[in-house]
Amino acid sequence: MIVKTEADRAGMRAAGKVVKAALDAAEKVVREGVTTLEIDAVVEQTIRGLGAIPSTKGFEGYPNASCISVNDVVVHGIPSLQVVKSGDIVSVDVTALLNGYQSDAARTFLVGNVSEADRKLVTAAQAAFFAGLEYAKSGNRIGDVSSAIQLYSELNGYGVVRALTGHGIGRKMHEPPEVPNYGRKHSGPPLKNGLCLAIEPMITAGDWRVKIDRDGWTVRTYDGSRAAHYENTVIITDGEPEILTL
Ligand code: MF3
Ligand code: CO
Ligand code: CO
Repeated sequence: MIVKTEADRAGMRAAGKVVKAALDAAEKVVREGVTTLEIDAVVEQTIRGLGAIPSTKGFEGYPNASCISVNDVVVHGIPSLQVVKSGDIVSVDVTALLNGYQSDAARTFLVGNVSEADRKLVTAAQAAFFAGLEYAKSGNRIGDVSSAIQLYSELNGYGVVRALTGHGIGRKMHEPPEVPNYGRKHSGPPLKNGLCLAIEPMITAGDWRVKIDRDGWTVRTYDGSRAAHYENTVIITDGEPEILTL
């Protein structure tokens, strides 16, 4: 949505703080031996403890308060009894609803002895977000953000997932416009002051193609290569974008 009033901005900021708190709480428990369901429980408790609602729970039948995506899982991993091991990379994606406003963010955490290649992959997902963010201001277009994310990722040797995109966000979790992580400069919808976006690079160490497990949710790389995800909710302004989940 385009946040028009100061109340809208304040509402989006407050929801962002809940998501940030949930990710911080998750980071503290993501370690060797924890199950992804235990991480999810911490996320849910944190969100509810702050008077908010975990938006993904029940969203199109999704069962949990977070998406937890390990190694070759790109996004939408369903929390389970899977035990996190040393060397894993674990993405936690959280969406929360507070007072009618949605916020959405994700981090990929390193567990124990992670290979140099995986460390670089995870760092690159974050850097790709910031490469895109450079173009996230009024007067530019969505394609400027998209192409910057794609260029950064591909120049560093990573695949850019096409099947899923970032998105507008506001009173609903997913709103127009789509924010692809690939595309052409000067293309797509214009960015306007007050537009609220979830920008979320999903990159792979190998091919960009993905497949979906029989559970209907879990998105994996087709070639089994590892993937990293980094997401924040931001408000577009005439100057620097405002990051709500950092
Ligand atoms: N948080 C995801 C996103 O970044 C959406 C998850 S929907 C769910 O857009 F149902 F899979 F949880
Ligand atoms: Co998300
Ligand atoms: Co999102």
